[in-house]
Amino acid sequence: MERPLIVALDFPSKKEVKNFLRFFSDESLFVKVGMELFYQEGPSIIDYLKEQNHRVFLDLKLHDIPNTVKSAMKGLARLGCDLVNVHAAGGRAMMEGALEGLEAGTSFGKKRPYCIAVTQLTSTGEEQMKQEQLIPVSLEQSVLHYAKLANDSGLDGVVCSTYESQLIHSKLSNSFLTVSPGIRLAVEAAQDQKRVATPKLARESGVSAIVVGRSITRAENPLENYLFIKKEWEGAI
Ligand code: C5P
Repeated sequence: MERPLIVALDFPSKKEVKNFLRFFSDESLFVKVGMELFYQEGPSIIDYLKEQNHRVFLDLKLHDIPNTVKSAMKGLARLGCDLVNVHAAGGRAMMEGALEGLEAGTSFGKKRPYCIAVTQLTSTGEEQMKQEQLIPVSLEQSVLHYAKLANDSGLDGVVCSTYESQLIHSKLSNSFLTVSPGIRLAVEAAQDQKRVATPKLARESGVSAIVVGRSITRAENPLENYLFIKKEWEGAI
């Protein structure tokens, strides 16, 4: 996967997605579909995006018993998703099951979708993790532990902040994908994200892919912001 800029389609329905994509008539994008949109529109939204020539990260963060995740992943691979994810907390057998399902749902001769793991949600603080999950180590150690578990289970990478990417790459291989949300331009406010980074810092930190939502979707001119962020991410400015 060549260091893509992934645009988070955090919209309630296809209507808003269509309106947004009107700005990008000539661009083939890598988009992220989350629970909000998928639970309303179902698999047809993936068909629609693929027909428009966009690559799709289906961000459903699966977490269930291994057999259920395996069967669900078989179906997601059939939809033609390019990237999917699970919670590493589901364990090794569940992550291995996810990969088996993806392989089973991929047509002969094609490459299965990439599969990455969520370690600790970025909304989880260290105190909360200690009190609610009874994990007695630091948040960073927990993130690294889950990243290693995902790597040992054969997954392709993890979702993590720009600040964790370097640490993960130093302990695992550089080819293990780090996919980072929480990206903001230097002039913007962080909004509800706690640890934000600019596209430039993400690039310099070796992040494999950035996920950008509101900086593009809420912009007055989404195409202009997209192209600006892309340039910065690719090191052209
Ligand atoms: O608008 P913004 O750029 O903050 O959007 C970031 C996107 O990445 C959202 O879709 C959000 O749900 C997602 N995400 C995140 N933190 C994670 C995992 C996913 O912000 N740990």
